[in-house]
Amino acid sequence: MVNDIREVLLTKEEIEEVVKELGKKITEDYKGKNLFLITVLKGAVVFLGDLMRAIEMPCEIEFMVLSSYGSGTTSTGSVKIVKDIDLPLEGKDVLIVEDILDTGFTLSFLYKLLEERKPNSIEICTLLDKPDRRKVEINAKYTGRKIPDEFVVGYGLDYDEKYRNLPFIGVLKPEVYAN
Ligand code: IMP
Ligand code: MG
Repeated sequence: MVNDIREVLLTKEEIEEVVKELGKKITEDYKGKNLFLITVLKGAVVFLGDLMRAIEMPCEIEFMVLSSYGSGTTSTGSVKIVKDIDLPLEGKDVLIVEDILDTGFTLSFLYKLLEERKPNSIEICTLLDKPDRRKVEINAKYTGRKIPDEFVVGYGLDYDEKYRNLPFIGVLKPEVYAN
């Protein structure tokens, strides 16, 4: 698994720092609010697990499943709901927790969908952002780290459902997905 990595972008320790910092900001900003973390499976699940423990206030969590990529490395632009949440969002301060903001198709779709359900507020927290790849305008209130336009895996992120369990984030060798 590790042999397929060309370069480590964020070590385990660097991820810990980034997540701690995000948790601190969120804790400050959401004081007295009804924080509701909505996470997109499966990529962001590792991030959520750490982020929620870095948030020092009560919060609820829920999961959604969306599909946009199939098994390739580029977005198609069509996003589908595979699993929705059935709780009302009125009065909730929704924070969408995502692993990576790439073209933006996934998050802009989800943001609009959840916004229509009239939460008290809605914001985005993404661990990684690849701003060079953006196709639709969307900005996260909380961003862990901006990264260059390269396909990364680890810490929840996959290529063809593999590498999610790597404890760091690395760039995959191009020959791995060229085959
Ligand atoms: P977007 O709709 O193009 O912004 O894509 C967002 C989704 O694509 C993320 O939630 C990931 O599942 C996937 N994705 C985008 N870039 C990468 C990457 O570098 N590695 C792994 N998955 C990625
Ligand atoms: Mg994802």
